[in-house]
Amino acid sequence: MTATDSPPGAQRFIPDEAHSLDDLKAAAPGCRGCELYADATQVVFGRGDAHAKIVMVGEQPGDVEDQKGFPFVGPAGHLLRRAVDEAGIAPSDIYLTNAVKHFRFEMRGKRRIHQTPERQHIEACRPWLVSEFALLRPRVVVVLGATAAKALLGPSFRVTKQRGQVLPWPDAAQHPDDFRVAPIEGGVEVPPGKLVATIHPSAVLRADDRDTAFNGLVDDLKVVASAASGR
Ligand code: URA
Ligand code: SF4
Repeated sequence: MTATDSPPGAQRFIPDEAHSLDDLKAAAPGCRGCELYADATQVVFGRGDAHAKIVMVGEQPGDVEDQKGFPFVGPAGHLLRRAVDEAGIAPSDIYLTNAVKHFRFEMRGKRRIHQTPERQHIEACRPWLVSEFALLRPRVVVVLGATAAKALLGPSFRVTKQRGQVLPWPDAAQHPDDFRVAPIEGGVEVPPGKLVATIHPSAVLRADDRDTAFNGLVDDLKVVASAASGR
């Protein structure tokens, strides 16, 4: 596929009769909505309670997630769990997922090096994400970093400027029509809720001053905690 071809997208792989997260999850291994399925070990679908009040959206599975088959079970996930705990959010209130559901990487020697997904992958995969929202009906969606922000808020959203604010959902920010969140092709309606953007836990791991970056993440998650508690 050349860069100018748009991938077919995930929509056609989502069963019309998906009435539960388990139905969605069962269909995800068959997705060929973009080329990323070909080199990854497996699809990594979202995980958490079907009644979770908070849905956290990362970028894509990392190396560890690709091998284990679950989101946020590697180093970034451990850090995120610590931050969630410090912010006073119960793990049972959270459903974790990613904007893109297959690991994108390039080989360097024998090592698999993470590659940021392109817009075409984010767009191709978004129907899964929107379908998860439609079934979960979360009170708060947490956007972790730039890729999730691109998926849900469009390319002009700046996490560094708008992090930690409670934004309305789905018209959370200006977004061009092609980034419209709901309804999408196929007619999935996402119920209104709130949205908070923050930095990705991997950005904390990469920061020069990790403590400050970690505390900033915790502060944003405290905003999430109070938004989820209904105020
Ligand atoms: N980073 C992400 O964005 N998601 C994961 O699941 C793991 C690391
Ligand atoms: Fe389908 Fe998303 Fe995987 Fe692409 S990354 S094949 S759209 S599940």
